[in-house]
Amino acid sequence: MKIMVIVAHPNLGASRANQILKTEISKESNIFIRDLYQEYPNWKIDIEKEQKLLLEYDRIVFQFPFYWYSCPPLLKKWFDDVLQFGWAFGPEGDNLKGKEFILATTTGGTEHAYRAGGRDWFSISELFKPIQATIMRCNGTFLPSFITYNADRGSDEYLLDQAEKYKKHISESLEELVR
Ligand SMILES: Cc1cc2nc3c(=O)[nH]c(=O)nc-3n(C[C@H](O)[C@H](O)[C@H](O)COP(=O)(O)O)c2cc1C
Repeated sequence: MKIMVIVAHPNLGASRANQILKTEISKESNIFIRDLYQEYPNWKIDIEKEQKLLLEYDRIVFQFPFYWYSCPPLLKKWFDDVLQFGWAFGPEGDNLKGKEFILATTTGGTEHAYRAGGRDWFSISELFKPIQATIMRCNGTFLPSFITYNADRGSDEYLLDQAEKYKKHISESLEELVR
C-alpha cells in the first residue's frame, strides 16, 4: 500500500510532538512524507501537483497539531484549493473514490477533557465532523483517526510510544482499523 503523509505544522522546527511522530514514520520506506508549510511558504498551492500526487497514493494521512478545535489554516486552504468541483466531487469528480484517509492530530487537551461535560466539551470524533464530511463528499473512505492527547505535557517516553502506535495505525489494513 502506498501511503502519503501530509504534515501541516506552522512551525515544525519548534514542534516536539509532531516532530517525534514524523521522525518515527520516516523509517518506513513505503511512506512518503511531506511538510506542507515548508513546501508552500507563500501559500500558493500547486493544485495540479497535489491532484497528481493524490492519484498516486492509496492512503492519505493528514498530520497536524489541533488548533482551535480544527486544523491549521494552510491545511484548510489545501482542502479548499485541491478538492475541486468536477475533480474531487460533483459530476465526474470521482478521482478520490475509494481512497483511504486518516487524520492524525496532537492536542494540548487530555483525553479526559475531550468528552461531554469535560473541559473541552466534545470528543475529537465530534470535532472532526467537518473534515470527515469533506472526505465523504469526495467519496473517500474516512478511517479512524490517530490522536495524541496531552502533547505539550507528555513525556518523551509517552510521545515515543505514541509514535510507535502511530506508525502501526497508519500502516494497518482497513479491516483491522474499522473493527
Ligand atoms: C494557535 C493554537 C491553537 C491551539 N488550539 C488548541 C485546541 O483547540 N485544542 C487543544 O487541545 N490544543 C490546542 N493547542 C495546543 C496544540 O495542539 C499543541 O501545542 C500541539 O498539538 C503540540 O504539538 P507540537 O509539539 O507538535 O507543536 C493550540 C495551540 C496553538 C498554538
